[in-house]
Amino acid sequence: MRNSKLMNIILISCFMIAVSFSIYFYIQSKAFQSKITDATSKEQVPTYHFALIGEEMDHDYWRLVGEGAKDMEEKYDVFIEYEGPRRSNPEEQLKLLDIAMKSKVDGIIVQALNDEFLPVINQAVDQGIPVITIDTDAPESKRSTYIGTDNYEAGKLAGKALLEDTGGEATVGIITGSFENAHHQLRVEGFRDVVEQEPGIDIVAVEESNITRVVAEEKTHNMLSDYPDITALYGTSALDGIGMVAAAESLGIEESLYMIAFDVLPANIALLEEGKVDVLIGQKPYEMGNRSVELMLDLMNNQEVQDVYHTNASVVRKEDIDD
Ligand code: BGC
Repeated sequence: MRNSKLMNIILISCFMIAVSFSIYFYIQSKAFQSKITDATSKEQVPTYHFALIGEEMDHDYWRLVGEGAKDMEEKYDVFIEYEGPRRSNPEEQLKLLDIAMKSKVDGIIVQALNDEFLPVINQAVDQGIPVITIDTDAPESKRSTYIGTDNYEAGKLAGKALLEDTGGEATVGIITGSFENAHHQLRVEGFRDVVEQEPGIDIVAVEESNITRVVAEEKTHNMLSDYPDITALYGTSALDGIGMVAAAESLGIEESLYMIAFDVLPANIALLEEGKVDVLIGQKPYEMGNRSVELMLDLMNNQEVQDVYHTNASVVRKEDIDD
C-alpha cells in the first residue's frame, strides 16, 4: 500500500516535469521563430535599387541632395545607392555612372555635368535602365526627365538683381564653376542676356573656379588686380562667393564691392548676414533628391513623366534670411 502511494507520487512528479519541459520548449521555439521572422523581414531586399550620382560627396549642397533621396527609403520600397567623387571630378563621376550601368541597377539619377555624359546615359537607356538627370541636364540625351533648377532662368534672376541694386551702373567680373559644365554656362548666359542690354553695365572678365573655394579666391584676386575698376562680382557656383569675399578682403575692398553668389548654404548665409555678399540665388537641393526618386518610381510603374521638372530658384537678400 505504502509502495503504491510512493509509486503514484513518483508518476505524478514525472508527469508534471514532462509538462513543464514541454511548455518551456514550446515558448522557446516560438521566441526563436519570431526572431527569425524579424531578421528576415529586416533584411528583405527592397524591390527597387536606384543609383544616385552627384558631383561631390564632401559638400553641403550635395549632402542635401543625398538626404532628400535617402529619406525616400522610409516611404517607399526602394534602396538608394548614393555615390560621387569626394571632390568634383567629372572623370570619376563618369566611371561611377559606368559602374552603375554595368551593375544593372533599376534606375540611374545623375548630374549630367558635360557632353561626355551623353553617350554613357544613352548606353544605359539602350540597355533598359531609365536615367533621370538632376541639377544639370543633358536634354539631347535619352534621359527620361530632368529635375532641378532652370539654370538659364536662375542666371537671369541674378542679372535682374544686379540691375535693381546697382541702378544699371556696374563694371562686372564673373567667377564661374567651370567653362565646361552645362549649368554654369547657362547661369552665365542668362545673366548676360539680362545685363548686356543695359548700357551702364560692362562685363570685363570671366574666370573659372574649378568648383573650389581656393581657386575662386585666386582667380578673383587676379581679376580685381587686373581690373581695379570692377564694382560688382557674380559667382555661379556654391563656393565662389566664399572665395570672392576672401579675395576682396585681402585687397581691403570688400566694402565697396557688390556681390551675388549661388546657394543658400550655411557659409553663404553667414556672408549674407555679415553684409559681405548682397544676394544669394537659392536652389532646392533637398527637393531635387526627394522628387527624383519619386519620378524614378513613376517610371518603374510605367507612368508618364514630363520632359523637365524645374524646382524653384529665388533671390535671397539679408532681410529674407528668416524665411
Ligand atoms: C551647383 C552644383 C554644384 C555646387 C557646388 C551648385 O550651385 O548647382 O551643381 O555641385 O554648386 O559648387
